Amino acid sequence: MRKLLLRSITAVGAAALLTLSTACSNEREGSSSSDSAGSKGFSKDSLIGVALPAKTSENWVLAGDLFTNGLKNAGFKADVQYAGASTTVADQQAQISSMVTKGAKVIVIGATDASQLTTQVKQAKDEGATVIAYDRLITNTPDIDYYIAFDNFKVGQLQGQALIDGMKAKKPKGPWTIELFSGSPDDNNSKVFFDGAMQVLKPLIDKGDIVVGSGQKDIKQTATQGWKAENAQQRMDSLLTSAYSGKKTLDGVLSPNDTLARAILTSVKGAGKPVPIVTGQDSEVESVKSIMAGVQYSTINKDTRKLVAETVNMIKSLQKGDKPTVNDTKSYNNGVKVVPAYLLPPVIVTKKNAAEAYANDPKLAPLTK
Ligand code: BGC
Repeated sequence: MRKLLLRSITAVGAAALLTLSTACSNEREGSSSSDSAGSKGFSKDSLIGVALPAKTSENWVLAGDLFTNGLKNAGFKADVQYAGASTTVADQQAQISSMVTKGAKVIVIGATDASQLTTQVKQAKDEGATVIAYDRLITNTPDIDYYIAFDNFKVGQLQGQALIDGMKAKKPKGPWTIELFSGSPDDNNSKVFFDGAMQVLKPLIDKGDIVVGSGQKDIKQTATQGWKAENAQQRMDSLLTSAYSGKKTLDGVLSPNDTLARAILTSVKGAGKPVPIVTGQDSEVESVKSIMAGVQYSTINKDTRKLVAETVNMIKSLQKGDKPTVNDTKSYNNGVKVVPAYLLPPVIVTKKNAAEAYANDPKLAPLTK
C-alpha cells in the first residue's frame, strides 16, 4: 500500500506536473534519460560535484568529509560544496551551475529546497552529467537519474512506533497526550517522515488512545521551517503555554530529528514540566548522550558512512559505463517521474540497543559504555 503513495507531492500537484513534464520532455527529445545515463562511462579522474545543503544536522557535516575523501580515494576529482546558512537556495543553485560549467560528470545533490533546482539539473543533463539526489528527493523535474537515501517512510514508521512504545513503558494505560513536529516544508523528506509516523499513530489517535493536546495534527501546523532548532523551541514554548497550563501533562512528542528533539526538551525543561518521551533521528552525539542519560527516548541510526560509500559505488558504476544498482523503482515519484532509488534500512535506537547499534561506530560506541 505504502509503495503506491506519492512520497513527494499531492495528487493534484502531481497531475499538474505530469502535464508539464510531458510538454517538457517532448520539447527535449534526444536528451539523456535515466535509461541511458552512464551507458558511455567517463574517464577515471573526472570531476564529481557534490552539492550539500546547509549544515542543519551532523549527518551533513560528516557527509562532506566522507565525500571529499571517498571520491579522492576512488581516483576522482571532488568538488564538495555546502549551501550557506541564510541564502541556501541561491547558493546551491549557483554551486550546481558552477559544477556543470567545470565539466562534472556526476552531480550529487542533497537539496536545500526540493522544488527549486529545475533549471540547474536541466543544465546538468544538457551537458551530459548524471544527477543523483542524495538523502532528499528533488521534485518538479525529469532530470534526476537516481535517488539514494535511507528509507524515509520507514524512518517515520519507526519514530511513530518508538513514541508509542516509550509512552506505554512509562504509563501502561492511555490515553496519552502528545504533540507532533515535522521538518522543513521545503525538504521532501519532511512529509515522508511525517506520513510514515502518522500511519502508525493515526489509528490510535482515531480511537482516542492518543490525544494531540493542541489539536495541531496537520503537517502545515507542525512544520519546522529550515529544520531550525530555535523554530521548534519557540513552537514548543507556545504549545506549552497555550495547551499545557497547570498540571496538564505531556506524555510524548514526535520529533523528526535529534536537533529538534533537543530543542523540544530544552523548552519542556524551561517550562518545568516532566520530561516526555521524545523521538529523534540522526544519532547525533549530544542526543546519544541524552538517550544514555535517560532523557531523549529514541533516535534513528542512518549511518552516513554507508550512504556515502554506496553513493561512491554508484559513481564508480557510472564511470565504467554500467548501470548503478537500485532496489526500489516504485516509491519515489517526484511529480514528473518515478526516480529509481537505492534505499538503505534505518535502525531505531533506544538506550536498550544503543551499544549493539553503534558497536561499529568509533565515535558513538564509547558513549554507550
Ligand atoms: C535528513 C535528516 C536530517 C534533516 C535536517 C533530512 O532531509 O534526512 O537526516 O535530520 O534533513 O538536516
